[in-house]
Amino acid sequence: MRIAIGSDHAGFLQKAPIADYLRSLGHEVIDCGPATDARCDYPDFADKVARLVASGQADRGVLICGTGIGISMTADKVAGIRAVPVQTVEFARLAREHNDANVVGLSGRFVSLMDNEAIVDTFLTTEFSGGRHTGRVEKIMREDDPDFPGVPADFGM
Ligand code: RB5
Repeated sequence: MRIAIGSDHAGFLQKAPIADYLRSLGHEVIDCGPATDARCDYPDFADKVARLVASGQADRGVLICGTGIGISMTADKVAGIRAVPVQTVEFARLAREHNDANVVGLSGRFVSLMDNEAIVDTFLTTEFSGGRHTGRVEKIMREDDPDFPGVPADFGM
């Protein structure tokens, strides 16, 4: 796969080892920066990675900030992206099986490199289950459509 990777200063220390790990698994890695550990803003690097995935220039995205939260929130704003902050292998598996997530947000401050490598491995090797999850993922994606009027207020009441 082609994997776009990016971080902020809080995820920078894990970016290179995770990129190397991905290469060792045979993936092509597109490093979207940053180039140093200087303080920076995670939305800039989330945007670069997310747009590569959304355009099909990358198959998946890997993002690392302090918590994995802000960098995932930003990526998720890009149409076509389903980004999730993940702290466990089990959540990585479920994010793929149930939600067909295409970008994973890792915590560089609270999760070890070894655990993040296991999370990334699971994220890249687990297939979307489809079935009952397909319609739900389609309903996630309708939120990208500016013409989607929203679910009627009386729906489910
Ligand atoms: C940076 O201090 C920190 O806020 C950032 O890395 C991330 O955790 C935000 O969600």
